[in-house]
Amino acid sequence: MTLTQVERQYAKAAQATAPHVVVLFGAAGDLAKRKLLPGMANLVLSSLAPDIEIVGTSLEDLDDETYRQQAKEALDEFDRRRLTDEEWRSFAEKLHYVPSKAGPKALAQAVAEAAARLGPSARRIHYLSVPPKAALAAVETIRDAGLVEGSRIIMEKPFGTDLASAVTLNRRLHETFDESQIFRIDHFLGKEPAQNILAIRFGNGLFEPIWNRNFIQQIQIDVPETLGLEQRASFYEATGAYRDMVVTHLFQILAFVAMEAPTALEPKAISEEKNKVFNSMKPIDPENVVRGQYVGYKDIQGVSPESETETFVALKCEIDNWRWAGVPFYLRTGKKLAEGQRIVSIAFKEPPQSMFPAGSGIGAKGPDHLTFDLADASKMSLSFYGKRPGPGMRLDKMSMQFAMQDTANANDVLEAYERLILDAMRGDHTLFTSAAGIERLWEVSQPLLDDAPPVRPYAVGSWGPNAIHQLIAPYAWRLPFERVWRESHH
Ligand code: BG6
Repeated sequence: MTLTQVERQYAKAAQATAPHVVVLFGAAGDLAKRKLLPGMANLVLSSLAPDIEIVGTSLEDLDDETYRQQAKEALDEFDRRRLTDEEWRSFAEKLHYVPSKAGPKALAQAVAEAAARLGPSARRIHYLSVPPKAALAAVETIRDAGLVEGSRIIMEKPFGTDLASAVTLNRRLHETFDESQIFRIDHFLGKEPAQNILAIRFGNGLFEPIWNRNFIQQIQIDVPETLGLEQRASFYEATGAYRDMVVTHLFQILAFVAMEAPTALEPKAISEEKNKVFNSMKPIDPENVVRGQYVGYKDIQGVSPESETETFVALKCEIDNWRWAGVPFYLRTGKKLAEGQRIVSIAFKEPPQSMFPAGSGIGAKGPDHLTFDLADASKMSLSFYGKRPGPGMRLDKMSMQFAMQDTANANDVLEAYERLILDAMRGDHTLFTSAAGIERLWEVSQPLLDDAPPVRPYAVGSWGPNAIHQLIAPYAWRLPFERVWRESHH
């Protein structure tokens, strides 16, 4: 097998990274099945990661064998590439399970055995794939099992459920773990295209001069999903779209779009700039928020018939600083919508005057736009008005499109969780969120959490409740696109 350049680079880093026991809390949960187990399987089978052993734990009463069976089913369903029998066997032997009711001692023992198999240099990383209310109990288990020293801990979002709980969670966490051991994960930051926003903004001379209120009319961060909530209603009922997606993923992406150039590509410099964006955010005004719930959500088992949990949210937020004052940021996300997309769309201001006669088509399809598509491999497009061929002067919306898929590097794209788990094992905090940043995001969210507007029903397969159009007026939502991404010609 020949290695690509990126693989070689990671293979080198893998050699320098100690072997790891991954202690996976919430091991039988939705995230573990959908992302973490497939991600770790790919790491185990690639040259990218050091040697690992996985010790799963959760409330479910399983043993190694039944857990492996569950993991196999999850991989069959969710892994982007199918493992051969041999590959599966080599991954399966690294999987172990201790039910939480067996207690901290049993966990400690399973971890010790796994570490012994990896040799004396083995380190530990705890992955807390559990809902916010279960996070501290897991931390206590780690402490009671004597597994804190020298270990690292990855905390899943949402980190807390409001300002007070996030502050408490940070304080309690710091009683057991040092900040340098803590990795608060937000997997959107691990997506290649999210990092590509930084590369494009700060690696080129073209974009930065126009990246401000003088040239930009409005920005949309739009993440509709087609997926429903049948599998995870109990988590979601207590969470909702705002806590699940906005206060985490969408705001983190917003920071990459809005921040000033960091002085270095290193954790402190980047989180300082992100936090400046969060500090300049105006508190979220409930009047600028539309909450929705898809018709049928209440019928899911585990959902209250009176549920007020939003499965959809759209909002306007503002960043009150010199770069962005007056530029609205529109955010939207929800379940069971018409399409699954993840886009950031930057709309430019109209030209000051138009020589084109009425009816020429100018402005007919909204402003000119720069669009980042956060699909697994980055896509970008610049759409603009150009002349339609033929007599006279008719304007059409045209586009220049780039897709990483079309490049020779397409196969190097790492799945977000794979990338971030590797970074955490290497102790690299660059793409993780900070305590101060998260607390500030809860602080700006508090007016909305205290006084949430009522949820409005929306039809499955729609774009959300009708009120989204008033929210964004006089502008319009960019999605659904009238034009499609061009397919690769290769
Ligand atoms: C998760 C949310 O963090 O992100 C899910 O809990 C959501 O509700 C998911 O579906 C979306 O992530 P991705 O990578 O599939 O876009």
